[in-house]
Formats: sequence, C-alpha cells, structure tokens
Amino acid sequence: MCGIVGYTGPRQAYPVILKGLKRLEYRGYDSSGVALMNGGKLKVFKKKGKVAELEELLIGKDVEANIGIGHTRWATHGEPSDRNAHPHSSASGRLAIIHNGIIENYAQIKKELLNKGYTFTSDTDTEVLLNFIEDIQKNNNNGSLEEALRIALKRVSGAYCILLVDQNDPHTIIAARKGSPLVIGIGKGEHFLASDASPIIEYTKEVVYVNDYELAIVKPDELILKNIGNETITPYITKLDMELAAIEKGGYDHFMIKEIFEQPSTIYDCLRGRLDAAAGTITMSGVEENIEQLKNASRIMIIACGTSWHAGLVAEYIIEELCRIPVEVEYASEFRYRNPIVNKGDVIIAISQSGETADTLVALEKAKENGAFIFGIVNAVGSSIARISHAGAYTHAGPEIGVASTKAFTGQLTVLSMMALKIAKEKGSISNERYLGLLNELQDIPEKVESILKNAEDIRKIAEHYKDASDFLFLGRGYNFPVALEGALKLKEISYIHAEGYPAAEMKHGPIALVDETLPVVFIATKDLYHEKIVSNMQEIKARKGKIISIITEGDDVTPGLSDHYFEIPPADELIAPILTVIPLQLLSYYVGTAKGIDVDKPRNLAKSVTVE
Ligand code: F6R
Repeated sequence: MCGIVGYTGPRQAYPVILKGLKRLEYRGYDSSGVALMNGGKLKVFKKKGKVAELEELLIGKDVEANIGIGHTRWATHGEPSDRNAHPHSSASGRLAIIHNGIIENYAQIKKELLNKGYTFTSDTDTEVLLNFIEDIQKNNNNGSLEEALRIALKRVSGAYCILLVDQNDPHTIIAARKGSPLVIGIGKGEHFLASDASPIIEYTKEVVYVNDYELAIVKPDELILKNIGNETITPYITKLDMELAAIEKGGYDHFMIKEIFEQPSTIYDCLRGRLDAAAGTITMSGVEENIEQLKNASRIMIIACGTSWHAGLVAEYIIEELCRIPVEVEYASEFRYRNPIVNKGDVIIAISQSGETADTLVALEKAKENGAFIFGIVNAVGSSIARISHAGAYTHAGPEIGVASTKAFTGQLTVLSMMALKIAKEKGSISNERYLGLLNELQDIPEKVESILKNAEDIRKIAEHYKDASDFLFLGRGYNFPVALEGALKLKEISYIHAEGYPAAEMKHGPIALVDETLPVVFIATKDLYHEKIVSNMQEIKARKGKIISIITEGDDVTPGLSDHYFEIPPADELIAPILTVIPLQLLSYYVGTAKGIDVDKPRNLAKSVTVE
C-alpha cells in the first residue's frame, strides 16, 4: 500500500520517478506527488487522483533535478486530497518526506508538537513524523538528520518505509524501513529506491533489499546501510531475476487480462524442474530438506489473507485427503490478535503473492517467536515473507500487477498440490497409482487452461448478459467451495457488484431467501464426488426461478438442461480441478468489470500490496 520511488544520480530524476510511480500505481492511486531538488532548492508537486493527473499538472513546469522522491498513495490517515498527498514538507520547508505505512502513535506525538506551537497542513501521520524528526534535530544542536531520524524512529510505533530529502544535503536520500518494503538499485554513480523492483529493473539488476530496522544513506556513488543502533551493515547485493516485459501490458488492455492469459505458462513455470510425471518424481528442495518435520506434523496451520486464504482452504482439503494431517486455515488478521496455540515445532504454511502483507507478516513473526516452523509459499522473490520463512517454495508466476490476484492463485494451488503429493508419498499415505495419476493430471493442467482460455469469448457474452445484476451468488462443494468464495471476491472487487460465495448445501440455511428471478447464481458443478448433490442444489434454485450460470465438465449432459448459461471445462481429477474452475470465474469478473467501464487494474479503494493492517 502506497508506492515510493527515489532517485539520486546524473540523470533527470523526474522521468525516472514518474515512470516508477506508474509501475507502482497498483499499490495505491488516491493521490501522487514528487519532491525534486535542484542545487539545494526543493520543489514539491502533488495531486489528488491517479499518477496521470500529476503528470498532467507538471506539463510545462520546471522539473529539472538530479535527485527526487515520489509517492503514490493509498489513503490511511486523511481523505484522498491534494493536501494529504505526499510528499510532505517540514515546518521549515527544508525537509520533504514520503511514507508507506502507518505511524500508530502519531496522535500523541502530534499533541506534543502542537503544544510546542507546530501547525499542520494535512491530516496525515506522515507530516507529524516529519516535524517530529525536524524538532528532534533542532533540539539536538542541529545534529545530523540521520541521528534525528534514528531517535524519532525509536519513539514511533507502527510500520514505515520512508524516504527523506534535505535541502542542506542536496545529493542524499535517507531511507528507513520497518514493516514496509524497500529495494535499492545500484547503478553506476547512481541509486534507485523503490517499494519493489519494477521501477528499477530497466536501469540495473543489482539490488539490495533493506531489512526492518535498517537505515540507508544513499548518495549517487555511495550507499551506507546501518541498523537503528547506528552500526554499519555490509549491503547484501542480489541480482534481479526479472525481465522488463514481465511488467508491461504487452498489447493487452489491462494487466488483469494479460495475467489471466499468462496462466498456461505461469503454471508450466511453476511445475518446471519440479514435477516429472514420467519419472514419478516431485523435486522441491524446501520440502525435501524438512520432510521429517512436515510429514510428522500433528497438524498444519495455514495463514494468509484474501485470495491467498482461499488457496489455503483448497489446500486444507488436499492435505487432509492426501497426507491425513489435520489442517487449520487462519485469516492472518485474526490469528495475530487472538491468543492462538502455537507450540515449538508446529508447522505453519504462509501463503502470499506479494510476500509483504502486513497481517500475514506479523502473524508469522508471532508464530516464529513461539518456535513454529514457517514454510512460505510466496510469489514475489526476495519479499519479506520469503525472507522470514524457514523454508519455502516460490510460485514463479512472475510479477502480478493487476490488483485482482489471478495467476498467483493458480500458482499457489499448483505448489500446494505438489507439496501435498510429495509429503503424502514420503509419508506413505497415498497409493502409488493415485500418486502417479495425480502427477499426470498436474502435468496436463497448462494445456487444459489453454483450452479454457480459447473460449474466453463465451464468458464475455455471459458477462454482457448479467453485467447489470445487483447481486450474485457463487456456489460450490468440496474442493470447489473455496473457488466459489474466490469467484465472489473477484466479482466484488472488479465490478463492485455484491456477491457471496457459499458451500452449495449451506444455501438452504439462509441465502436461498435471496433467490428470485433477478438473481444470477453461479454453480461450480464439475463432475466429482458431489456432482449428484450439486445437481439437486441447482434444481432448488431453478424451482425458485433463479438464473443459473454453471461451470461444468465437458460431456456432462445433465447440468446444461438446468442452466440458463453454462461453460464447459476439460475433465480433471477433483483434487486439482480448482486450478481450472477458477479460470472462467476470473474471466467473468474481468468482463463484467470492463463492460461496466471500471478500471479493473485499479478498482476503487483497493491496493495490491496490503502493507498496513
Ligand atoms: C484479491 C487479492 C487480495 C490478496 C490479499 C493477500 O484479488 O488480491 O485479496 O489476495 O490482499 O495478498 P497477498 O497474497 O499478497 O498476501
């Protein structure tokens, strides 16, 4: 949430920052702004709305500068407006700051500053932090800004990644991080700073991921990293494994549809080098190195949020079925605040696309303190959750930029399926025949996804038909129940249509009261153990004149007659069918959203990486 970019070096800073902000816009788009410094003179420009509006504002303005910081905001403290947009300037006008995160005790600090006569031009916690830093520096005999920042950060609680510039030090950016991500790109005589690597990739592949409680003093030709205790740390330089094409739309109208269509290759990339159906093997070093702990776990807890939590629910069904280990799936935001029972050696699987979700991160830190073993299933390489996990497996879906998670979800299901199969095989809780059968099924998944996507136009027509509905119900059973939840979530966030997901049998316990001739009900009714049961549920909706849209297995001759619209998918073992059944639901939300004229990559009120709780 909130994207930050910084640059210091010989280039013009503004174009670098502007392009970076466009790449980070998925993190928030309530307002944006830049602070540019030229010869020690600071200029701050900011504007409510998307980055394009800032760009428009700056046409013809003097944006000459070799150092600058930029921010794209997802509002926490203070409504989206010009005055609450970042960067914020200090009382003296000498300092400017951008911030991603929340300063939780800002109200107390603000009170102290108000008593000292400070005034504020915004409602933000960030402006409070900046004046607090300036005040400390003033009372510290005008000592260094770095020292003042360190003192301030010891007093604040909450999460932050901040970038600071100072008119008195016209080539330096000071950065600090706790809980919100920061990557520094190392160029030749220049440095780039950003919330993720996407603004950096086109200039350099050498980066340093800054850790919590670290400060960076960044000049064009020098990077000094220190901890909050003022000890110098040697920066650990890693090479980015990402291509520029992966973060561009590549001819598609939106990132979301590009990412939906990428799934045959992202799932293939996830399987590649791991699954060998002919040899009957799955190679996952994170699982192999910890197999004793995993297969002997008395229970597994899965911690995640949103779509990743839905992947966890599917995994609960798969792991319990194949490995016979009890699984509990927890919302990270609930887990972190209750008093969960976590014992030394407990196994926790963390699932996250971004690897930066604040609730998940804090929940894991809490579990880790209690001695739990953390296995991270993460998409963003080098992210915080990947780094705090004891072991893990990347989903290899590539950068996911559309706010709605699509390819990361199918990547998560693919990794979780392989992981469960590997543990089950080692544990001896699966027959060889079933094991080999599922390996072959998984291997065929990319091709089956491809064949579903070939018929995307059919889903577009269905979407056109129902785009004006005010509510939707999504129903599924067994492995497809979490897919119903995911279908409803996707539709809500992308089309703003109210939608609910339910286990189909649970409908009779309440939601059936919603059904009338205006309500579209999406059934995930593929051929599986529950097929006859779900056919009965469809009858019940039909009898009440609800409109039925069904996702069914090719060749099923029962469900088409019960459906107003249906979409066929290739047959698949029920255990891995969710990787297929979710695809038409992703398409449905995309086409309904676009038919309603919604900017599906940036739906209102949302941000991709939820780095505040
Ligand atoms: C929905 C969506 C969110 C995320 C959730 C967790 O489309 O994207 O619900 O799934 O915010 O994010 P990660 O997986 O990055 O931890």
